[in-house]
Amino acid sequence: MKALVLAGGFGTRLRPLSCTRPKMLFPLANEVMLDWTLKNLASSGVDTVVLAVNYMAEALVRYFGPTKFDLGIIYSREDRPLGTGGPIKKAAELLVDGEPFLVLNGDVISDIDYGQLIEHHKRKGGLATIALIRVPDPSRYGAVELDGDDKVLRFVEKPELGTAPSNLINAGIYVLEKEVLDYIPDGKVSTEKEVFPLLAKEGKLYGHEVRGLWVDIGVPDAYLEANHLVLEKLNGSAVGEGCVVDETATVLEPSSLGNGVLIGAHSVIGPDTSISDHVQIGQGCRIERSIIFPGVTIGDYSSIRNAIIGENASIERWVKVESGSLIGDYATISDGVTITQGVSICPSKTVTESILEPGQVM
Ligand code: GDD
Ligand code: MG
Repeated sequence: MKALVLAGGFGTRLRPLSCTRPKMLFPLANEVMLDWTLKNLASSGVDTVVLAVNYMAEALVRYFGPTKFDLGIIYSREDRPLGTGGPIKKAAELLVDGEPFLVLNGDVISDIDYGQLIEHHKRKGGLATIALIRVPDPSRYGAVELDGDDKVLRFVEKPELGTAPSNLINAGIYVLEKEVLDYIPDGKVSTEKEVFPLLAKEGKLYGHEVRGLWVDIGVPDAYLEANHLVLEKLNGSAVGEGCVVDETATVLEPSSLGNGVLIGAHSVIGPDTSISDHVQIGQGCRIERSIIFPGVTIGDYSSIRNAIIGENASIERWVKVESGSLIGDYATISDGVTITQGVSICPSKTVTESILEPGQVM
């Protein structure tokens, strides 16, 4: 079976971290985010994955290469953004082989059983089946109205607050028959706004409610939540090779340390924290519910909570980084600086004075 993974979005809501890498390459519990999905596909009987790439395509091609986890990986490159539907049409020849195929949003982390979804699709006999997940607030997603036979009566993308037909939303995972390609025009197409509403109207779209781990990492909070859920699933603390953790330091579960991580005396790391390869943390630091990209240095007595620190950034001593803040790659936060909630610091920026208002610092 074949699967198309949509991996071409700009990751606008994760800037500045997505300015220097596509979001599918963000670390999650010390693995690259899309690797979690590829492993799940490989163990569900998928043999070939088509990666639909556009933004920073080369970074993806370089990282995944022609094969991974026993999957063949083919790249379908777009010279301009084709939305969520255009890439399916563009890759048609690579996907159609007499069987239905899977389509996945590459920024979704989930442990859903693809096999069960495919079975449900075959049983219902529609042209497309969407995996559905129940969420408290459907307004960021595509919400559906289902009948008693799991047929989708209505599909509404990003419904305004209070107008969603239900709390069941499109999980960004579909099984499609080749006939769906006839519903997708050439060029830039939104599957959610142009294709699903039409299929629903014709009674050819089905849904299948799934449960378990599911997060779209599109916004910082969701990315931190995905990190928490994946770490929890790992059950405990993973420690890479060559780590040196001072005997007076504490790592609270669940957390993960990559290779060559150094942690100084009396520092407390975790819970819900991913520290990537070759990160150096001084003494007396406190890092909680955060994601630290590779090569970061954190000086003595600094604290980081609910924040994401980009590759090779330098957090000096007595620094405080608070909730929802994002520090770009190679940025320097100088001694004694406080970065309050909801601040994004651009890559390579040096910050010498505290920032006490949310916003972006160029
Ligand atoms: N190849 C390619 N080309 N991929 C693209 C493009 C493009 O032009 N534009 C977006 N993508 C990819 C993104 O990288 C992402 O993996 C996926 O398509 C969905 O785009 P998002 O921008 O993340 O959409 P969303 O999160 O607002 O909404 C979608 O996902 C929700 C579930 O997470 C919709 O499918 C919703 O209906 C759904 O509920
Ligand atoms: Mg998304």
